[in-house]
Amino acid sequence: MIKGIVVLFAAAAAALATAAAQTPPAAKKALIAHRGASAYAPEHTIASYTLATVQKADFVEQDLAVTSDGVLVCIHDLTLERTTNVAEVFPDRYSRAAPGEGRAAAPPAAAAAAASAGAAPARRWLVNDFTLAELKRLDAGTGFDPKFAGARIPTFQEAIDLVRGKAGLYPELKDPEFYRRRGIRTDVLLAAMLRKNGLVANPKTPVIIQSFDDAALRQLARDLPQVPRVFLVEPRDAARLDTPEKLKEIAGWASGVAPNKAIVDTMPGLVKQAHDAGLTVTLWTFRASTTTFPSVREEMEKYLYTLGVDAVFTDNPDQFPRR
Ligand code: G3P
Ligand code: CA
Repeated sequence: MIKGIVVLFAAAAAALATAAAQTPPAAKKALIAHRGASAYAPEHTIASYTLATVQKADFVEQDLAVTSDGVLVCIHDLTLERTTNVAEVFPDRYSRAAPGEGRAAAPPAAAAAAASAGAAPARRWLVNDFTLAELKRLDAGTGFDPKFAGARIPTFQEAIDLVRGKAGLYPELKDPEFYRRRGIRTDVLLAAMLRKNGLVANPKTPVIIQSFDDAALRQLARDLPQVPRVFLVEPRDAARLDTPEKLKEIAGWASGVAPNKAIVDTMPGLVKQAHDAGLTVTLWTFRASTTTFPSVREEMEKYLYTLGVDAVFTDNPDQFPRR
């Protein structure tokens, strides 16, 4: 009798082991440090990138801009005044013309309203109007906290040198259309940098390219097909993702979509539909300073493990819920 029970348990255990072996492990969720660990150190500085690696980010994000002498640098905006002391160092080097591109730029309606009210257009210091040597004179740290005084805008090469081997890189082509109008191909510059650094399909330092600009991603799908590409989508463009047919078309030139998290709130079927189309889903942006949840960790938990998204951008890498 006892021998029979033992045999039964052994068979059950073997069946469970077989079932476990057949069940694929849950895909690892990815933590992308948004502009570095930007809740704790000035965005896109060596300090924020270093802290992101210390906080075990899977990827560290770089928003890319181009200097007047053709160097890729890491800064979110097309212009310098929000994150640096450019107005003090180069008081006369501003432009009155609105860049006309970029989510950081004044929207056309706001610019038109200001003009009709007789207000002068805002003064803007475009990154692309300055050489790298000039940018390196700017302080990108004091505005965040005086203890970071002297922090500089890093080049993409400096970001690569810091991050490689410790985490992946997640460069964003910012405003490619603005640069195209100036005769600059940011996709070509980025591809050259990845090739030069041996970062095309490098298992130790994975790279994922992101952009809101589908033309740039379609071009990279042709020129650099080995490197995954993620299509960023703002709430106002949610209709780009609203049918399985559109998602299948995107899967022809991108490996994933990255909607603002508000889009998933209004389109709950999107995660499954994107997965069915073969696309990963990455959401932005999770911040302890703005979350409406009891904590940003609980907010990320919901999207990653209840709604099933694959990755998140967060300013707070130390709050990422690993399982
Ligand atoms: O790139 C993902 C997310 O960073 C998009 O928003 O404005 O921070 O670049 P933004
Ligand atoms: Ca970004």
